[in-house]
Amino acid sequence: MAYDLIVIGSGPGGYVCAIRAAQLGLKTAVVEKDKTFGGTCLNVGCIPSKALLHASELFEEAGHVFAKMGIGVGTPKLDLPAMMKFKDEGVDGNVKGVAFLFKKNKVDSFQGTGRVAAAGKVEVKGADGKTQVLETKNIVIATGSDVARLRGITIDEKRVVSSTGALTLDKVPQKLLVVGAGVIGLELGSVWRRLGAEVTVVEFLDRILPGMDSEVCRQFQRILEKQGMTFKLATKVTAIDTSGNRLKASVEPAAGGAAETIEADVALVAIGRVPFTDGLGLKEAGVALDNRNRVQVDAHFATNVKGIYAIGDVIAGPMLAHKAEDEGVAVAEILAGQAGHVNYDVIPNVVYTYPEIASVGKSEEELKAAGVAYNTGKFPFTANGRAKVNLQTEGFVKILADARTDRVLGVHIVGPDAGNMIAEAAVAMEFSAASEDIARTCHPHPTRSEALRQAAMAVEGWTMQA
Ligand code: FAD
Ligand code: NAI
Repeated sequence: MAYDLIVIGSGPGGYVCAIRAAQLGLKTAVVEKDKTFGGTCLNVGCIPSKALLHASELFEEAGHVFAKMGIGVGTPKLDLPAMMKFKDEGVDGNVKGVAFLFKKNKVDSFQGTGRVAAAGKVEVKGADGKTQVLETKNIVIATGSDVARLRGITIDEKRVVSSTGALTLDKVPQKLLVVGAGVIGLELGSVWRRLGAEVTVVEFLDRILPGMDSEVCRQFQRILEKQGMTFKLATKVTAIDTSGNRLKASVEPAAGGAAETIEADVALVAIGRVPFTDGLGLKEAGVALDNRNRVQVDAHFATNVKGIYAIGDVIAGPMLAHKAEDEGVAVAEILAGQAGHVNYDVIPNVVYTYPEIASVGKSEEELKAAGVAYNTGKFPFTANGRAKVNLQTEGFVKILADARTDRVLGVHIVGPDAGNMIAEAAVAMEFSAASEDIARTCHPHPTRSEALRQAAMAVEGWTMQA
């Protein structure tokens, strides 16, 4: 029996695509090589990392903030196996949720490695080595991404770890070396610092979080340094000697110069991720990749081979779960004859540290580079009543609006709960709001969201900042 659609990969791109396609009446199946559904995000990415970020944040609060609010709990004790169990149970609940949704929406699932045998044919090889060929009108490749590796450095997931190993360490390292000051390095570096590790972050570039607004990142770096993280910017790790009890990492200035050694118990390599297409048979099927090995697609997610589409981390664009999900919905709608579409100008980006960093739209650097004239409105959380009373005053909100039309072009937030706050800015931008629209929208008091409103008021200079 032939399917209308077979999706290869059950991450946020693949599972959302399959469910939406089934809702729209397409006979749909998913092929997943791992034991559980949900891909990187649910198994070894967004979900387990957020569980550990949450638990470690409360651990730190219990140790440092509770007493200031009159709550005496003594010095909190870490039970790492119990914390890991809490994380694993969270993952389990989420992956089971996907299996439930497949059943509910009548999506068939096949466990095994999928290979594009030809347009219209997917070969599935099970763990027992047996293969079967499924027939389908359309194929969506949603095979995601894998850890990028450093030449000459082997990841053993015990002492030299990727994010996957950093989510399952069985003891808190005394010294943690993080290679890469990107999202993973700062999130998982924060987790282990809060639990007691001394964390040094080595970053090749002269700034943290490349691509995000540099004013935001400068302030954020100062906050992380105050929390006890050490940064070595414009520096590269050239080798890690694993022969002794302690790791010895050779580091040198990115521009060249004298090398030094940093000792550590664990090194986390977090220098980015690469598209995953191993064993998919794309070359044989004639599917074109771009110069960074991503599956090349047009504006409708179609590859150069008729009936084969691709979405998520395996194609160009930010490697984010919600971007993959939106592409999954869009391609399912396109295949069902509707007008699926993703607005790439409004994809929020959140770093779930404490405080959080959240942004949507353009940064100041991008607007300057494009020669767009803009006005800026800023508001610090030190002037927000709720932030003050809760002792959470780090950070600010910044709104960038077109100088001519006042249309909001970018919003950048440093502060606790910034990830939730940015959704309001995303909705406003989807509706092409002006900063004045946000400024004149009644916001509940006392909330942190008032800082966003005040920043919008500041664009035209009528903020009520003390
Ligand atoms: P994936 O989630 O990678 O799923 C691909 C699936 O395809 C996998 O299950 C894989 O086993 C399967 N597969 C691959 N090849 C085959 C094959 N041949 N046959 C069958 N199955 C196959 N993003 C956010 O937006 N927010 C976050 O907070 C966040 N946190 C993250 C934290 C970490 C530590 C990491 C590593 C990533 C994080 N991300 C986060 C990124 C997010 O996980 C990815 O952007 C997202 O998972 C991409 O979804 P996807 O569906 O494209 O691919
Ligand atoms: P990243 O691309 O965010 O950061 C990698 C960092 O490593 C960059 O700052 C880069 O300059 C640096 N780097 C590269 N090579 C280096 C070298 N040789 N030495 C030192 N530094 C080097 O990648 P990261 O943190 O690995 O995350 C991978 C992906 O996962 C990201 O694209 C991100 O989108 C996604 N992710 C998203 C999260 C979220 O949305 N909260 C959380 C975690 C991951």
